[in-house]
Amino acid sequence: MCGIVGFTGRREASPILLEGLRRLEYRGYDSAGLVTGTGNELHLRKKAGRLAELAKHLGMHPAPGCHGISHTRWATHGGATDRNSHPHLNERNDIALVHNGVIENFAALKHQLQSAGVRFRSDTDTEVLAHLISHYYHGDLATAVRQALALVKGTYGIAVIAKAEPGLIVGARLGSPLVVGVGEDGTYLASDANALAGFADKVVYLADRQICTLTETDWEIRDQDLAPVSVSVADIGNFLGNGDAEKGDFPHYMLKEIYEQPESLANAMRGRLANDDATAHFGGLNLSAQQLRQIDRVVMTACGTSYHAAMVGEYLFEELARVPVEVEYASEFRYRNPPMDRSTVVLALTQSGETADTLAALRESKRMGHTTLAICNAVASSIAREADGGVYLYAGPEIGVASTKAFTSQVCVLTMIALYLGRTRHLSSAQGQKIIDDLQAIPDAVRKALECHDHVNRVAAKYADARNVLYLGRQYLYPVALEGSLKLKEISYIHAEGYPAAEMKHGPIALVDENTPSVFLVPRGNVFDKVMSNMQEIKARGGPVIAIASAGDREVSAVADDVIPIPDVPEYLQPIVTAIPLQLLAYEIALLCGCDVDKPRNLAKSVTVE
Ligand code: AGP
Repeated sequence: MCGIVGFTGRREASPILLEGLRRLEYRGYDSAGLVTGTGNELHLRKKAGRLAELAKHLGMHPAPGCHGISHTRWATHGGATDRNSHPHLNERNDIALVHNGVIENFAALKHQLQSAGVRFRSDTDTEVLAHLISHYYHGDLATAVRQALALVKGTYGIAVIAKAEPGLIVGARLGSPLVVGVGEDGTYLASDANALAGFADKVVYLADRQICTLTETDWEIRDQDLAPVSVSVADIGNFLGNGDAEKGDFPHYMLKEIYEQPESLANAMRGRLANDDATAHFGGLNLSAQQLRQIDRVVMTACGTSYHAAMVGEYLFEELARVPVEVEYASEFRYRNPPMDRSTVVLALTQSGETADTLAALRESKRMGHTTLAICNAVASSIAREADGGVYLYAGPEIGVASTKAFTSQVCVLTMIALYLGRTRHLSSAQGQKIIDDLQAIPDAVRKALECHDHVNRVAAKYADARNVLYLGRQYLYPVALEGSLKLKEISYIHAEGYPAAEMKHGPIALVDENTPSVFLVPRGNVFDKVMSNMQEIKARGGPVIAIASAGDREVSAVADDVIPIPDVPEYLQPIVTAIPLQLLAYEIALLCGCDVDKPRNLAKSVTVE
């Protein structure tokens, strides 16, 4: 997803802007650019492709100046070309702008501007904004920005500079995050606090419809009428979590984050499991025990991997707390307007806290008067701040586009919330203590599961040329089958589908042949025999079977072509442990396919557009 970095201060801006964009690379993009100002000129440099292309271009054509703005673009309107990349300038080339989001009424605005004689250079929606601001500009950039934005429908996070106001950056936000950073060398603006680590000491998040003005030594945040607003300034350390946002000794962020899971799971549980009263405690749910007891239904809403975690949450809440749960794709839920009782709580799950569809679903639920909760990894992100209460994952930055540690931490937090709800209802102290003991053993179980990596390498080598793969599981492991198929397709580009294992008979088994491997999640449990039957059905049709199974399970080894062993854990915690081999399998197959594991094609880490 697009990234913004701005700087105004006492150092050359270009290196700072480039380093800030490098830290946002993980979000996914297809072009990059920057513009700096030196008194009487704006220096625009922008290129399609990776940041390295821009850096090479800057090496030949430096952009001087101590203030500037920069952008990594994930194309929405117009292809990934030099001229469509940001920044965009007005016709006089004395105002420059970068933009995250979508201008929904850009066609009408573009038509009006063209009728007034404005000549466009790109196919983007963003360029409309540059010309609109130019139209209203009479020497006061903040006022021109405010007037232009009043005409806009859609979402934006923008940064703007003008040749006539050297050192000034104006930012504005509606639906796409922006954070002001304060550092020794100057003032910063970014779409993600990760870009400011090491540069800024303090950060301030803009709220929707706020406008900020930054100079070398000062900054101000104002409302849409340009009246000053009071804001809270916080240390940047609180926003970046404990995780180290670098790869360390790992070849890829994704592999580092897979191997971080024993630690990230321990972080998710730290200080939240209370042995003395055999339950879990959370600092930010902001709901009393009485309010929790009154919850008679939960709607969980999310996208992608977080949606799969929510599906596991449905099984957990209904088994451990006997609370009915619906799981809704956020992009569907926000428009569906289903009948919901007042006592229904809406729980949003999100790693980034900025996914546009999930944020919109949360806001729609709040508009309807529902209590909203969020399970989120990115501290102080939009969804975390707008929900009535919530629980952070504390998994540290997740840089790999394919989500791994966030999934297992989300399932872990959902288990603790289910324990908490169950203990306000029917779970006994002994039952609560058993769940706590099971949870506390999970980091070691995941550490043991990671030992399957050699088995995974052999399986990956055998099936890396498959063009279609099926993932099959039942009950708690059906969502994990979906998650395993998503992992494979999003980083290896191999087509994969997840199904409830029994569902195969109702059509998908027609896909099975000797070239279509099926990955079965078949550890010991209540439905083990049923899944074994499904495996036999696939074998009988010549389909290769890869089994994720309890270590040493001879019954499975007698049937499956390949077995990846995992340690035994209680059935309701198997989603965490079975996810590990599926993450590793997708990773190793993607490497064999020569794919960019951390930055897969077409994908973004945080989808902040609808
Ligand atoms: C997961 O591997 C994907 N990168 C994607 O599906 C992701 O889970 C989805 O976009 C939701 O993101 P969020 O958790 O940050 O809201």
